[in-house]
Amino acid sequence: MKTYLVTGGAGFIGSNFIHYMFRKYGDQIRIINVDALTYAGNLENLKGLEEKYHYEFVKADIRDKKAISAIFKDNDIDYVVNFAAESHVDRSIENPEIFVETNVLGTLIMLNSAKDAWEDKDGNFKEGKRFLHVSTDEVYGSLEDPDDYFYEDTPYSPHSPYSASKASSDFLVKAYVDTYHFPAVITNCSNNYGPYQFPEKLIPLIINNALHGKELPVYGDGKNVRDWLYVDDHCKGIDMVLNGGRIGEKYNIGGHNEKQNIEIIHIILDTLKEILPDDDDRKKNVSEDLIKFVTDRKGHDRRYAIAPDKIKKELSWEPETRFEEGIKKTIAWYLQNEEWMEHITSGDYADYYEKMYGRR
Ligand code: NAD
Ligand code: DAU
Repeated sequence: MKTYLVTGGAGFIGSNFIHYMFRKYGDQIRIINVDALTYAGNLENLKGLEEKYHYEFVKADIRDKKAISAIFKDNDIDYVVNFAAESHVDRSIENPEIFVETNVLGTLIMLNSAKDAWEDKDGNFKEGKRFLHVSTDEVYGSLEDPDDYFYEDTPYSPHSPYSASKASSDFLVKAYVDTYHFPAVITNCSNNYGPYQFPEKLIPLIINNALHGKELPVYGDGKNVRDWLYVDDHCKGIDMVLNGGRIGEKYNIGGHNEKQNIEIIHIILDTLKEILPDDDDRKKNVSEDLIKFVTDRKGHDRRYAIAPDKIKKELSWEPETRFEEGIKKTIAWYLQNEEWMEHITSGDYADYYEKMYGRR
């Protein structure tokens, strides 16, 4: 039985990944989820897994060398999947420091702890060990030419403190491969959407605000383009790269689903109107009149678009969920899980929202 050490597994993609893996492999695998439970970590995302599967949660910070090496000492870890990160661009513009601490230093500590556990005295690594670092398309910067795409060899050109910290962490992973022949792979994925996403990100924020009749803040002219992928298709890609990817390589993951932000907002409003029953009180709140163009994000990247040719060719990865279907599933999930949203938005979220949007 393979043992996976998943960091950041209480966040959006990490928790979806854990669910995806247990749905696929059931009792055949063991997962240890290490998460510091920052504002973005939520154990509600993983309710009931301990009773059903070989699953264990450890509250620890990836910057805590002692705690992380103890986990490697106490368990024979086969695979590391490193999701843990500060992930929100707007927060990185307000407070870059924690992004460097977690995303750069934390990744270094993960790499070192795995290296210590997996390397013998001659500098060789035990068979079958893999470290997968989960990264982003934002490291490549912004595309201006509409015919351009991000390929694996596109030069890095990060613009926000968030993407600069992720780029730094990618370089550290690459340095471990080149220097020590450390068995790592990197994935660079486009924007994910789906269940359990924290409502500081565009799609859940718009769904939640529309249901409550709150303004829908559109940064700048609303024409910035993101390449949206249903979260399970990202998880599928990670599983495939972990099992079949070539050590030392990086793989872009994305489904050629580019949309302007303003289009996304209209799709959400139309879908809400379509699926909410007429006698649901929330339906009367949903209106285009809520759309409000606000001050742009500083250094706002114009367009991201992934060329997923390599992962398709080498590993036969294909996205399974079309956007039209994925967004309906996602909206339906948020409608059915209002309590989940209420738990999140009843805490510090109100202060965050006032700080970010109060003067925009
Ligand atoms: P998220 O913010 O929802 O979750 C991050 C998780 O990491 C949380 O559970 C948090 O508690 C945990 N964490 C933060 N700091 C930690 C620390 N110091 N020690 C241990 N745990 C810590 O993020 P997400 O959207 O799920 O993104 C996960 C990863 O995927 C990130 O590395 C991000 O850069 C990458 N990524 C995200 C997207 C996207 O669209 N969301 C796309 C491509 C790549
Ligand atoms: O591309 C992958 C990245 O996608 C990940 O690496 C990041 O972790 C993830 O947060 C996401 O970054 P973005 O900045 O693209 O996502 P966000 O949801 O914050 O914003 C999406 C777009 O919507 C972006 O152009 C900014 C815009 N936006 C966002 C918010 C929160 C608005 O217009 N209004 C808003 O209120």
